[in-house]
Amino acid sequence: ATESEPRDLVIIGGGVAGYVAAIKAGQEGMKVTCIEKRGTLGGTCLNVGCIPSKSLLNNSHLYHQILHDTKHRGIEVSDVKLNLKQLMKAKETSVTGLTKGVEFLFKKNGVEYIKGAGTFQDEHTIKVQLNDGGETSVTGKNILIATGSEVTPFPGLQIDEQTVISSTGAIALEKVPKKLLVIGGGIIGLEMASVWSRLGSEVTVVEFLDQIGGPGMDTEVAKNIQKILKKQGIIFKTGTKVLDGEKSDGAVKINVDSAKGGKPETLGADIVLVAIGRRPYTGGLGLENVGIELDERGRVIIDSEYRTKIPHIRCVGDVTFGPMLAHKAEEEAVAVVEYIKKGYGHVNYGCIPSVMYTSPEVAWVGQSEQELKKAGIKYRVGTFPFSANSRAKTNLDTDGQVKMLADAETDRLLGIHIIGVNAGEMIAEGTLALEYGASSEDIARTCHAHPTLAEAFKEAAMATHGKAIHF
Ligand code: FAD
Ligand code: NAI
Repeated sequence: ATESEPRDLVIIGGGVAGYVAAIKAGQEGMKVTCIEKRGTLGGTCLNVGCIPSKSLLNNSHLYHQILHDTKHRGIEVSDVKLNLKQLMKAKETSVTGLTKGVEFLFKKNGVEYIKGAGTFQDEHTIKVQLNDGGETSVTGKNILIATGSEVTPFPGLQIDEQTVISSTGAIALEKVPKKLLVIGGGIIGLEMASVWSRLGSEVTVVEFLDQIGGPGMDTEVAKNIQKILKKQGIIFKTGTKVLDGEKSDGAVKINVDSAKGGKPETLGADIVLVAIGRRPYTGGLGLENVGIELDERGRVIIDSEYRTKIPHIRCVGDVTFGPMLAHKAEEEAVAVVEYIKKGYGHVNYGCIPSVMYTSPEVAWVGQSEQELKKAGIKYRVGTFPFSANSRAKTNLDTDGQVKMLADAETDRLLGIHIIGVNAGEMIAEGTLALEYGASSEDIARTCHAHPTLAEAFKEAAMATHGKAIHF
């Protein structure tokens, strides 16, 4: 970067929020610079989040399936071995391919990429500590904060990524732990518990609440997936709080008690995974130099157009309000550039899908039953189990169901909750339906190909009126 050249947009952070905004700004003909300190683009998602975790989930599932789920299908396999090094290599190949791909897209769209850590010097100037040594500074007419999030530590249990690990350690273990204890039964906890349990660990998940799945998961769905995961061998201790823990001789002891108290217990493990949530990351950003405010949870405070109190400094992604999801960051990134360039943009926060990539997957969009009850909205429920779906039966993959919640008066769809092998893909149809304001009758009257899992989606819509054909 040349210090004299002011840019239309300077972005701090090259994660999903930052890199998508950079590409979009490039497409809009803006002069854009993206500053990223990690050394690679793609942020948490591509480097240590969505992508590597899904690679391990996919391949550990294959391994587990070959070991336990082929014989009754008429396929006998012998001499099956886990090569953990190769499993990790496959993961790295996916990560490198995708992060390099973003670098290519930067070039294609004329985005300037600076490898270094950015700090606010003043309202228009970002000082950059370059990764290769030395310093530069970039001036921007607009600045976008997209610095993401980091793991929330557990007080008193220092993460060393060896015996006490975060998700970053959990996607890079060099051997399968005999006993893995997971603190937090949210999405990270359950995805990582699945990976290591399939690869041979005895996994215990300790969750403070009575329900697993983290915020937003429908209570009935959470209970059902817990039963399924329990059958797969994961041990659950819900309604249980972790008091403290201690490392000794390469192992960890964790003291827990029931959330209400009165049932103390000590649990031992080789490795403890801390997965109690993530928190916004603004370390070293120098927000104090420009007076940008954070809320009580450390999130950068913004208005509905993503502006901080300094209007030309905006913020999107994990570091501000809303669910910490890559696709939410991506939507915001496009909208914020549109606000800067055209003065308008849009994200429908009522229509952001969530997917947990366990086996079967869990996916939902819109409101849960507990949310509708709390809001006093009257609704009808339509449920269709995969055990009554012909394709699921053919594939011998019958765990789960599609559950639809429709407004009792207007029939408009309010929420869709799926447990099933392809729930993460099927939820796209639900998201589109919600985005277009569809009624359950609209879905029920839409022809779905036979035999497909998607027919369960149609039948759940029919079930909201008690008229499913096959159940
Ligand atoms: P980040 O991806 O965190 O990117 C921020 C970037 O900013 C980082 O690369 C950081 O190095 C850089 N940065 C910070 N400060 C500075 C600075 N001062 N100067 C320069 N650079 C800086 N979401 C999903 O939707 N689906 C999933 O399947 C999924 N799986 C996940 C699995 C795991 C294990 C984890 C941890 C997260 C997962 N997520 C998933 C969440 C997803 O990763 C985040 O929502 C997403 O990465 C947020 O993007 P972001 O750009 O806001 O932040
Ligand atoms: P989370 O918020 O999903 O779940 C944390 C869980 O830990 C909650 O159930 C909470 O009740 C529990 N908890 C908190 N403190 C505890 C304590 N002291 N003892 C026991 N349990 C405790 O957070 P998680 O799983 O760490 O994930 C962080 C973020 O990453 C999520 O917000 C999610 O959006 C994102 N993510 C998304 C994925 C996806 O979309 N597939 C995959 C992985 C992460």
